[in-house]
Amino acid sequence: MEAAAELAQRLRAAANERLAGQEPLLLVAAPLLALLAARAVHAAAADVADRGLRTVLITLAMATVKLVPGVSGYIAAEKSKVVEQLQSGSASAKKNLRTELPAVGDPDGVIGELQALKDKDVRWQGKCSGTVYIAGSESEGHFSLINKAYSMFSHTNPLHQDVFKSVAQLEAEVVAMTAALLGSKEKASGGQICGNMTSGGTESILLAVKTSRDYMQSKKGITKPEMIIAESAHSAYDKAAQYFNIKVRRVPVNKEFLADVKGFKRCINGNTIMMVGSAPGFPHGLIDPIEELGELASQYGICLHVDLCLGGFVLPFARKLGYPIPPFDFSVKGVTSISTDVHKYGLAPKGTSTVLYRNHEIRKVEISMEYLSSVCCAIF
Ligand SMILES: Cc1ncc(COP(=O)(O)O)c(C=O)c1O
Repeated sequence: MEAAAELAQRLRAAANERLAGQEPLLLVAAPLLALLAARAVHAAAADVADRGLRTVLITLAMATVKLVPGVSGYIAAEKSKVVEQLQSGSASAKKNLRTELPAVGDPDGVIGELQALKDKDVRWQGKCSGTVYIAGSESEGHFSLINKAYSMFSHTNPLHQDVFKSVAQLEAEVVAMTAALLGSKEKASGGQICGNMTSGGTESILLAVKTSRDYMQSKKGITKPEMIIAESAHSAYDKAAQYFNIKVRRVPVNKEFLADVKGFKRCINGNTIMMVGSAPGFPHGLIDPIEELGELASQYGICLHVDLCLGGFVLPFARKLGYPIPPFDFSVKGVTSISTDVHKYGLAPKGTSTVLYRNHEIRKVEISMEYLSSVCCAIF
């Protein structure tokens, strides 16, 4: 004890002797500067961990390029040209906008007016893959059948299932049929697949992400949730992250343009609530390795959402036709939720999708308000 005190005394004397000649201002400023430098290094390291070295380097390079005289001005001028173009386009469109209710109704003329407006749209029929999915003529075959069925129910309100029992039944049937296509009848699914319809792929994704967040909070107490997605995942996941306060870890795709399972694994930590695989993703039309992601999700006890918005009504049939389709649905262990768009290759009108969950334990946190849960969703 005495020896330690003596050593401390000697160190203090030596330090004081060394610093005696230094300017006092420097002695105050040096630790402050060191603190600032340490904070900057810590922030840079956190940025690299968050966004990856490549993205950080590209951002830095762009910032450096903008320092070259003239570059910033050039970029600003190009941007304002685009903004001007957009604004002048919308200005001419605005000129023709009706902004007040007509004083007198015109039931005979209005359909003609609507037709004239519709005639100005781009001729999309069969030419706008990724925009409208149904083909053929509106007045014939499947297209006309769907329009007729839709018009029969266009003024219902699914919120009031006591009034519209028909809609409740139809929702339950769409959910059950979609689930059956996606493995609900297979033993590996656990036999409890459930879900509901939504207004589109984005809403299905929003619900799946929010449900995974709340499920992981109840299961593991995660309060600073993070999710791992591939660079190729749909922008709806960023939207969900912003709405529901979730940190996104976006992992670059591998050489085959698929979700990089090793990269995903490196991002898993104690705050990870979920991962996302797409089957297929929109940019490349490729199926991520869902089975490997499922193994990873099971190993770490986290959720795995499969984005089948595009593929849900294609892959099951492609498999039946004999195409070598890798596992992508609830038959894969670890998959906890799936989104599938009826309004894409299900060929239904815009505004219909399904979100499915592995079991009721997961789904029950989807809607937590008593008011809504009592009336809103069909559970089959
Ligand atoms: C893979 C994928 N996920 C999600 C979505 C979002 O669907 P929606 O446009 O119905 O919101 C899309 C849309 O194209 C998609 O391709």
